[in-house]
Amino acid sequence: MSRPHRTVVVTGGAGFIGSEVVRQLVGSGAQVTVVDNLTNGKRENLADLPASRVTLVEADIRDIDVLTPHLQEAAVVYHLACLGVRHSVHSPIENHEVNAAGTLGLLHACRSHGVPRFVYVSSSEVYGTARWAPMTEEHPTYPCTVYGASKLAGECYARAFHQTYGYSTVMVRPFNSYGPRSHHEGDSGEVIPKFLLRCLAGRPLVIFGDGTQTRDFTYVSDSARGIILAGTADAAIGRTINLGSGGEVTINDLAATVAQVAGRPDARIERDAERPGDVRRLCADGSQARAVLGYEARVPLRVGLTELLKWYRGQNVSPETLLEHEVVRNWDITVA
Ligand SMILES: NC(=O)c1ccc[n+]([C@@H]2O[C@H](COP(=O)([O-])OP(=O)(O)OC[C@H]3O[C@@H](n4cnc5c(N)ncnc54)[C@H](O)[C@@H]3O)[C@@H](O)[C@H]2O)c1
Repeated sequence: MSRPHRTVVVTGGAGFIGSEVVRQLVGSGAQVTVVDNLTNGKRENLADLPASRVTLVEADIRDIDVLTPHLQEAAVVYHLACLGVRHSVHSPIENHEVNAAGTLGLLHACRSHGVPRFVYVSSSEVYGTARWAPMTEEHPTYPCTVYGASKLAGECYARAFHQTYGYSTVMVRPFNSYGPRSHHEGDSGEVIPKFLLRCLAGRPLVIFGDGTQTRDFTYVSDSARGIILAGTADAAIGRTINLGSGGEVTINDLAATVAQVAGRPDARIERDAERPGDVRRLCADGSQARAVLGYEARVPLRVGLTELLKWYRGQNVSPETLLEHEVVRNWDITVA
């Protein structure tokens, strides 16, 4: 059966990385359908994009009946919708149902409706703590959280669809992403927006644990570009590919760099207990991304932080107002 594949579907496209994927796709001339139930995503994240090019379907990825007509038109599905790491601490079952089971259901629907390609956006969290660095894709996967485990399950399902059915799936593992529209609020709040807003508001930066834990921070335009390439490069089909910057930064150094960029080099640091299941070390080996996707991160950390600072300044909302939605210790290990 031949049919027109006119659109690109982005699940989680109203979220932080997803909305940047949508922005870049629109920039390259695509017609995009966003599927997002707006649990953590926002309409405002897409507000600057032409309505004629972006359709927002407010739906749960598990509601396949609602998704079906959109899948039937799709040339590629980029699957980013998920619930986050701190959510998995208080609600592990729901986290699994959306991230793992939801991905399996979506894969099955995409294959059934003949979607030509499926890009699964996994996470560096599937590795757990690095046993060596930089980490190639062959590094053991040993997730420390239910989130990491659920992302790994989704990734394994996507890989199995390629192995079993010859379905064109690609699995990408972004490392920690930051930039405009990143989350500072509630259990979605991430370290860079929280540090930056706290600096701007003259509040102390709170480091959990001793601050020697490391991450590979990647600017969101780089993460999104790599994700899009995974949907267009034929050599990527069936592969699992890291998307990082290759830079390893301790949280202590990150705090100092954010404080300098924000013009508050004397910002106070407060220390608190380590986070449950916190990964100690992450750093990507980008050789495969370079070879297969021609992908290289372009934005150095200081440049990306400066861009984020400019973005916050252009929002016309004070850091103090934004911080009203911050939860400092944004996880809860008590049994619900
Ligand atoms: N932010 C990072 O540093 C990072 C790093 C590695 C991987 N990732 C991956 O990138 C993807 C996007 O992450 P993000 O940081 O933009 O998070 P995000 O929370 O901003 O985006 C996820 C989106 O999914 C939506 N969503 C959640 N449950 C849904 C459901 N049941 N049905 C439909 N939509 C639903 C949310 O409303 C949100 O808009 C995720 O798959 C995540 O695992 C993110």
